[in-house]
Amino acid sequence: MTYTPQLRELMKKVEETRPSRVGVNYPRMTQDERRDVLEKFHPDYIVDGFRELKVGVNKGSRLTNEMADVFEAWSRLRGVDLDLSAEPDYDVDVLIIGGGGAGASAALVAHEAGADVLIATKLRFGDANTVMAQGGIQAADKENDTPAIHYLDVMGGGRLENVPELARALVMDAPLVIKWLEDLGTMFDKKEDGTMVTIHGGGTSRKRMHAARDYTGAEIMRTLRDEVYNKDITVVEFSPAVEVLLDEEGRAAGAVLYNLETEEYQIARAKTVIIATGGSGRLHYRGFPTSNHYGATADGLVMGYRAGAETIYADSIQYHPTGGAYPPQLLGLLVTEKTRGLGATPLNINGEQFVYHLETRDVASSAVIRECEERGLGVPLPTGMTAVWLDSPILELVHGEGTIERQLPAMLRQFLRFGVDIRKEPMLIYPTLHYQNGGLLINENGMTAVENLYVAGEAAGGIHGTNRLMGNSLLDIIVFGRRAGFDAAARIKDIKTPKKLSLEHVEKYHKELEETGAADDRLGPVLLPHYTHR
Ligand code: FUM
Repeated sequence: MTYTPQLRELMKKVEETRPSRVGVNYPRMTQDERRDVLEKFHPDYIVDGFRELKVGVNKGSRLTNEMADVFEAWSRLRGVDLDLSAEPDYDVDVLIIGGGGAGASAALVAHEAGADVLIATKLRFGDANTVMAQGGIQAADKENDTPAIHYLDVMGGGRLENVPELARALVMDAPLVIKWLEDLGTMFDKKEDGTMVTIHGGGTSRKRMHAARDYTGAEIMRTLRDEVYNKDITVVEFSPAVEVLLDEEGRAAGAVLYNLETEEYQIARAKTVIIATGGSGRLHYRGFPTSNHYGATADGLVMGYRAGAETIYADSIQYHPTGGAYPPQLLGLLVTEKTRGLGATPLNINGEQFVYHLETRDVASSAVIRECEERGLGVPLPTGMTAVWLDSPILELVHGEGTIERQLPAMLRQFLRFGVDIRKEPMLIYPTLHYQNGGLLINENGMTAVENLYVAGEAAGGIHGTNRLMGNSLLDIIVFGRRAGFDAAARIKDIKTPKKLSLEHVEKYHKELEETGAADDRLGPVLLPHYTHR
C-alpha cells in the first residue's frame, strides 16, 4: 500500500465525482483564458529564469539561465594539444553525432544513397529520448484527415510561431514515414481488420496518433537500431563529439570525439556532419525534474552554436503536464499523454476537474501549476510538494475493463512496481521538464547556416514554434533525420575531402568569452549531468 492513509482519504473524493465525469467533457478554455494562464503560470514567462546571451551569432537573445551557462562555457579542448594535420582516426562521407531515432534514420537513408556513414554516440546506441517516448507518432493517413489539417494543428499548437516550411515538411512526410517504419518492421497497434488504431493527443483535431501500446519510441528505436546493424553501418559508442571541425572555407568537415573509456580525443573527418544529439532536460531548468534520458545535456546546441549555427526559440521549453509526482521513485518520469488521450481527467484535491483534459501541454501544465500554487487546491504529498490527480480508473469505466492493461501496459507496470494499481487508484502528477521546443535553425533539408552542417531531431528548432504537440517529436526525428541523411549524402559527390581541418571558430569564441569575463570553471558541452555537484 504505497498511498498513505491521508492520500487514500483524499482519493475518496475522486471516486465520488467519477460517475458524474463519465462521458462529460469539461469546457475548453477561450483563447484569452489560455493566454492568461500561460502568462501567469508557465515557466517560460518567469522573467528571472532567463538572461541575455553574451556571445556568438545570437548574442543578445534570451536563454534560460541554465542554457546560457552552457553556451557561455569554454571548450573542452581549451589547452588540449591536437594535431589536426595528422591522419584522422575516422574518415567518412557523413558523420552523424548522436545515436537516437534521428541519427539512426539519417544513417539509414545516407547509407542507402551510397554514402560511407559513421555514427558516433555518447552512450550506447539507442540511449536517447526516442526510446523513452511513449504515446505515439502523428500522421494524417486516415480518410477524415489530411496533411493540411495536421498542419493547422501543428501551427495552432506552436502558437503560430512555427517556421511554416518546416511545419509543412513535417506533415507532408508523415504518412510516408509511417509506411517506412512499418516496412522496416515497426509493429503499430492495429484493429482486427488490419487498419491502424489512431487516437487523439492534446491539441489534435483528428485522431491521428499511431502507437505501439505505450512504448512507441522503444518499438521504433528497436526497428531502426536493428536495421543499422543489418546494414553494417559503423557505430562508435561512448564517444561523444566535443567540437565540430570546419574546413578552410568555414564549412563543416568533421568533429573531435572524446572516448569516454580511454579518455582520448579522436578526429573524425567527414564531408558532411549531422548533429542529432537530442535535447537538454538534464539541465533541469528552474530545478524541474525531467522525463529526459541521462544524456540530454544540450551538447549539439553548444557545438553547433560555436561553429556558427543560429538558434531559434532556444528559450522555449516544454513542461509535460503529467509527470509522475508520487511515489517519489517516479518523480519527473513521464505519464504518457496517451492516458489523457484515452480520457483520463486531471482533478484537484476536491476531486473536481479544473481543465479540459486535452488542452495543449503548455496550457495544461500552466493550469496544474495554477491549481497548486494560486488556488491552493493541490494534493499535499508526504514529500512536501503538491500535485493533482489524474483519474486513470475512469478509463476502465469509459472503455471497459482491461483497457489499461491493453493500452497502457508499460504505465501499469511502472506504477505497480511501486505499489500503485492505476486501474483502481488515480495517479498523482505534476509538470515535468520534457522537451526543448527550439534549437538550431535548419532549412527543409535539415541544413543550418553553416554549410554542410545539418541538425535533426530535438537539437533542431523552428518546426514546432514555441509548443510542440504530442506525437510530433517521434515524427520530427524521422522526417528530419531522413531529410538530413538524404541531403547530406546527395552533397558528397560535390565535396572534395577537406585539406585542412580547423578549430579557429573555437578560438574566436574563446576570445568573446574572455571579453565578457565568462566564469572560468564552465566547460561545454556538459556531456554528463552534474548530479554530484548539486
Ligand atoms: O506523453 C507522451 O507520450 C509523450 C509524447 C511526446 O512527447 O510526443
